[in-house]
Amino acid sequence: MKNKIIAGNWKMNKLASEAKSLVAELKPLVADAKNTVVVCVPYTDIATVVAETKGSNIHVGAQNCHWKESGAFTGEISPSMLVEAGVEYVVIGHSERRAYFGETDATVLARTKAALAAGLKPIVCIGETLDERQGGKTEEVLARQIKLGFAEVSAEEMANVVVAYEPVWAIGTGMTATCEQANETIGYCRKVFAEMYGQKVADALYIQYGGSMNDKNAAELLSMPEIDGGLIGGASLVAEKFVAIVKAN
Ligand code: PGA
Repeated sequence: MKNKIIAGNWKMNKLASEAKSLVAELKPLVADAKNTVVVCVPYTDIATVVAETKGSNIHVGAQNCHWKESGAFTGEISPSMLVEAGVEYVVIGHSERRAYFGETDATVLARTKAALAAGLKPIVCIGETLDERQGGKTEEVLARQIKLGFAEVSAEEMANVVVAYEPVWAIGTGMTATCEQANETIGYCRKVFAEMYGQKVADALYIQYGGSMNDKNAAELLSMPEIDGGLIGGASLVAEKFVAIVKAN
């Protein structure tokens, strides 16, 4: 059995001052965790959170990065800027970025490649909308997101990739996928990765579940054989809830 990767996705929440106290609260509570603990924070919190987590077992992530190293891309942040700032993980292709900021499978691929080249560990998000699930298109959508979003990612690079399966209808809605739904769908994703990279790479790949995971449902979700961790939004903003998820299995 792999350990799990439990990543908080703070989204656009927490001022640097608030980030400092949340991380200070988390540190002792997760110090003995057997799972990997990551907090993916807003850019403006990175310096504070990197300093505050120094010497602890909390890893720091960002929530996006550009695919170029530098240049005329106003408002963007490059992978090497994140590396220099002490960031280890970066969320790529979150459904909110796909829905509100024009992210496509092609830009997801470009950002993922650039993140890997800089030595970051991308947490690449995939997932179907409610319409797609109800229309029986879940597998088709996921297969497309995986085949296009990973088209140029090598088998060796996959060792540094984390995938987050996040059904869009379950994000921030309180409507969690059932354990069976999440397990089955992640199993399907792993099958697609196995077709692309072979079974060994697919088995070693961490595929998280995300979408209204909380302190109440985490133990059951994380007990499922295909689920290698969680990407947690709302519940990661409250220390005791996030800690309960980190320790849920
Ligand atoms: P949620 O968000 O836990 O608030 O549903 C998950 C995510 O968007 O990563």
